[in-house]
Amino acid sequence: MPETVLVTGGAGFIGSHTCVELLDHGYEVVVVDNHANSSPHVLDRIAKTASRPLTAAHLVDVRDREALGHVFAAHRIDSVIHFAARKAVGESVERPVEYYDTNVGGTCALLSAMHEHGVHRLVFSSSCSVYGDARTLPLTEHSPVAPTNPYARTKLMCERVLEDICELLPQMRVLALRYFNPVGAHPSGLLGEDPCGVPDNLMPYVAQVAVGRRERLSVFGDDYPTPDGTGVRDYIHVMDVAEGHRVAVGHLDDSPGLRVFNLGTGAGTSVLELIAAFTEASGRPVPHQVVDRRPGDVAALVADASAVAEAWGWTTTRDLAAMCADAWRFQTLNPDGYPR
Ligand code: UFG
Repeated sequence: MPETVLVTGGAGFIGSHTCVELLDHGYEVVVVDNHANSSPHVLDRIAKTASRPLTAAHLVDVRDREALGHVFAAHRIDSVIHFAARKAVGESVERPVEYYDTNVGGTCALLSAMHEHGVHRLVFSSSCSVYGDARTLPLTEHSPVAPTNPYARTKLMCERVLEDICELLPQMRVLALRYFNPVGAHPSGLLGEDPCGVPDNLMPYVAQVAVGRRERLSVFGDDYPTPDGTGVRDYIHVMDVAEGHRVAVGHLDDSPGLRVFNLGTGAGTSVLELIAAFTEASGRPVPHQVVDRRPGDVAALVADASAVAEAWGWTTTRDLAAMCADAWRFQTLNPDGYPR
């Protein structure tokens, strides 16, 4: 019997790519999504992209424990990948309670439903933002955590909840993956990042400027202590993130309890370097102007990606040029994003 994975937030950016990766590797996949920040149309795109269909997709809010219970009762779930969450740093400062409610409350509801139905294998979406304003780079999983905004605090809080439940239940097997900055798109151009409204994140904003949907990019500060003064991040191709999740599912049984891993490339890229790479990939200029720093931002976040390499013998393979080329293909094939 193939293993069945429940993917919460399966219609989202990382979720949709991960569903395709799992289906292409023989897993049965059940999706739960309330489409708060995703289009139901993504499910059709998954069907067009993957070699096999999804087992099922349920319109469920991850905070709704009863509805989740019905999903677990309807399928024989072996493991869960929990993506469903809110993820905009700025919005989290404006609406912290909603962030704690969805991200922490949703995780607690999911854990209760899982336990009730005898499912104890989980891959959890954490974030490099838990490290905060790092003093020493690259960041290992042992670097100090010091989140600087509510979004990041919800992710750290979820890790703490997972730690506690793993302490209580010896049968739990949990991997928390701290992603750095996932960007890019499926090489087919059928799946990609399509945030509702004005993009908060750099890459989708750059892509929308290049395609002419927005006039110019604001570069948030050029006075950081980085080589060119703009923020440095560890961008990771969403296909590598998806692959990382599929590999993680295969390693859930390596040991009991909670294990935390970075998911990054180890390479830092500044905002100006990303603009240059995108211009190269798209052949389009990306008009931009430097403005003030964005509140809550940090200068640089770069992963030490060696722990996953050592534990699973797996590393990322796609470079910045591929991230830009694939994001551009998605943008040109879907200039207005997914149909809504
Ligand atoms: N930036 C700009 N202009 C923009 C948007 C961003 O200059 O319009 C800069 C930021 O100041 C930062 C860099 O681009 O230096 C990256 O910013 P993002 O908003 O793309 O990403 P963050 O590093 O803020 O990371 C956040 C979360 C991560 C999450 C990531 C992608 O903290 O957990 O978004 O969703 F992975």
